[in-house]
Amino acid sequence: MENVNKEPYVVGGKSYTAVAINTAAKTGQWIKSKLGDFNSIDVKYSSQDLVTEVDKGSEKMIRKLIMTHFPQHSFLGEEGVEPGPAASALALQNVSHAEYLWIVDPIDGTTNFIHGFPFYTVSIALAYKGEVIVGVVYDPSSDELFVAEKGKGAYVHGKKMQVSADDKLSNSLIATGFPSDRNTALPINLKGIQSIAPKVRNIRSAGSAALHLAYVADGRLSGFWEIGLNSWDIAAGALLIQESGGTITDTEGKPYSLAVRNVIGSNTLIHGELQQELSAAEATGF
Ligand code: IPD
Ligand code: CA
Repeated sequence: MENVNKEPYVVGGKSYTAVAINTAAKTGQWIKSKLGDFNSIDVKYSSQDLVTEVDKGSEKMIRKLIMTHFPQHSFLGEEGVEPGPAASALALQNVSHAEYLWIVDPIDGTTNFIHGFPFYTVSIALAYKGEVIVGVVYDPSSDELFVAEKGKGAYVHGKKMQVSADDKLSNSLIATGFPSDRNTALPINLKGIQSIAPKVRNIRSAGSAALHLAYVADGRLSGFWEIGLNSWDIAAGALLIQESGGTITDTEGKPYSLAVRNVIGSNTLIHGELQQELSAAEATGF
């Protein structure tokens, strides 16, 4: 029979969230199977900004799985973008008019993956007209899948997440990162660490921004901040936090958008105090 339908075949009947969950879980398990079994470590923007063939393979797998269901959607993934802050910002700008945009970090915590340190994730977000509506962060080491849908809450292992009740920095556990951009972002973040560390219960820095944000959503951390992140590090975690009663802004306290690179995510209660301390330390990155 003649094929009159020129449209590509699209697998129907799956929700955005179901596709994000299946994709993250499947890819995460594959990444875990490659622990200690990769050939190349390449340097990107700095000698601390690394990529392996597993990052690239993971992104390819994620793109394929998502595009099977939603071929008309746009896709922004870390490994499809030239390294460095300027290229990341430009890549985001280039897709800013997309109606549906998938924002993907195929391995957040590449350094951890390389060293076999079990704190790395797959982060997948879907934005509709610039607003994140689905966020999934999957940690294959602990087999924990964090998922949020706009307006419907956020869940881990089927349990609804809720941010912590810590109401002061002094009884808070805060996380941050050591950005791989040594020249600009790292010195600013170090200023923040110097100022915040004495004021909080303690600081953690385990090497995956996306997973730290998920931990804020589940109340395991009171807050997180970092200078110089990319949209794919933050997007899924931002929705997890919002849907768990938390707050996510830039380091000046302005509302979160996909373009935010200097971020604070918190349980809401300590947000102002954390923001003010970073401002006072001139560590907001602005
Ligand atoms: C990195 C991680 C790390 C953060 C860096 C990010 P990558 O992402 O999120 O925790 O400190 O700033 O670049 O390179 O592992 O995808
Ligand atoms: Ca990342």
